[in-house]
Amino acid sequence: MTDSIRVTGGRPLKGEITVRGAKNFVSKAMVAALLGSTPSTLRNVPNIRDVGVVSSLLRLHGAPVDYDVEAGDLHMDTSALVPADAAQIAAHAGSSRIPILLCGPLLHRLGEAVIPDLGGCRIGDRPIDFHLEILQKFGATVTQMPDGLLLKAPNGLTGIKHKLAYPSVGATEQLLLTAVMAEGVTHLEGAAVEPEIKDLIDTLQKMGAIISVSTDRSITIEGVKELRGYDHTSLADRIEVGSWASAALATKGDIFVRGAQQRTMGMFLNVFRKVGGQFDVTADGIRFFHPGGDLKPIALQTDVHPGFMTDWQQPLVVALTQATGLSIVHETVYENRFGFTDALNQMGAQVQLYRECLGNVACRFGERNFQHSAVISGPTPLQAADIEVPDLRGGFSHLIAALTAQGTSTVHGIGIIDRGYENFRAKLAALGAEVE
Ligand code: EPU
Repeated sequence: MTDSIRVTGGRPLKGEITVRGAKNFVSKAMVAALLGSTPSTLRNVPNIRDVGVVSSLLRLHGAPVDYDVEAGDLHMDTSALVPADAAQIAAHAGSSRIPILLCGPLLHRLGEAVIPDLGGCRIGDRPIDFHLEILQKFGATVTQMPDGLLLKAPNGLTGIKHKLAYPSVGATEQLLLTAVMAEGVTHLEGAAVEPEIKDLIDTLQKMGAIISVSTDRSITIEGVKELRGYDHTSLADRIEVGSWASAALATKGDIFVRGAQQRTMGMFLNVFRKVGGQFDVTADGIRFFHPGGDLKPIALQTDVHPGFMTDWQQPLVVALTQATGLSIVHETVYENRFGFTDALNQMGAQVQLYRECLGNVACRFGERNFQHSAVISGPTPLQAADIEVPDLRGGFSHLIAALTAQGTSTVHGIGIIDRGYENFRAKLAALGAEVE
């Protein structure tokens, strides 16, 4: 399959598509299965590359995985696990950060785990310090090996009291996946409470875990000696839903997203409405459409749940280039998530980046010289261009820009998009996009 796509833009996306389970839950639920001494079944699983990556990591550890793509059912038999070495894990994991989350379950089941060398720039951008601190507090020893880190639990793992400096999604998951079978009680303050984490907690509860969540971002886990497999249906991918909704808005289209769930989309729906988009919620999904007339500018900042999620930011910014007036977007989760706007400017958008925290809330990047605020001036007609996909969400945003622009764009490196958007080429075709 070629890694480039030619998109002739300027026509509204119209029709219906289906969104299945959330990439950022499914991959973690597959890791949770490793804790169970009997098989697990995960349902509503999308056919995306990250599912393939975690499946091969499970197989590498002796757990057969069987995926019925059409039904979306994934069966994992984790009853007998075997260790794998860092080089094998690295070869299967590619650029994925999932190997970090395997540590707790593997330490419980096998007494050791390895984290391959994830590569300098990737660790530099997205550190794993929170993860290692948590694992060491539970009692894991960490040894630097030539090709990665070796973790062992010579005296088993024991419950901890911990406070996160920032409500990191991955670190909260790390703690949950380790605490459920650690001896004694674990208490976490400052936890991330994203819907994907709530679904992970529900899954672990089905397996036999005892977890209580308080309204103040604290979670208490009482460790148990053994967990069994689960049967669970994933929540919908709210990032993918927001991406298609933004595509509907930017192209003046009308898309029914089957499978979209209002309960996970609240903050996005508020913003969508304030910008001038309209939506209808039904039992089967959400219809997103541009009602005609001008779109309105907005000031918003990304945040951890229940705020406006960072992964919605990039697709929405493309739609904001079509709003009349100045929009301000302050990114507070990642220090460097506006790189994709270079291509938008090349296509005729006017997006200016700032190091200051624009808006009324200061964030931890304000004093650290990161261009993490954007001012978008619109409406600007977009012109076709030759563009290169920078990352998963930025890549989908480039596709939206190409679909909005007059003329034929070539978008290179679209393979990255397969990591998190199931069958996006077929979905584009179903919505009437002119792509080849
Ligand atoms: N952080 C640290 N140290 C750590 C871990 C995180 O400083 O040890 C910082 C990060 O650098 C970042 C912030 O904490 O500035 C938040 O990172 P978090 O740990 O919450 O993110 P993550 O778990 O690595 C997941 C999703 C991301 C999503 C974020 C925020 C997965 C596989 N990834 O990442 O999704 O943006 O939570 O909601 O679940 C995507 O799907 O494209 C994606 C990037």
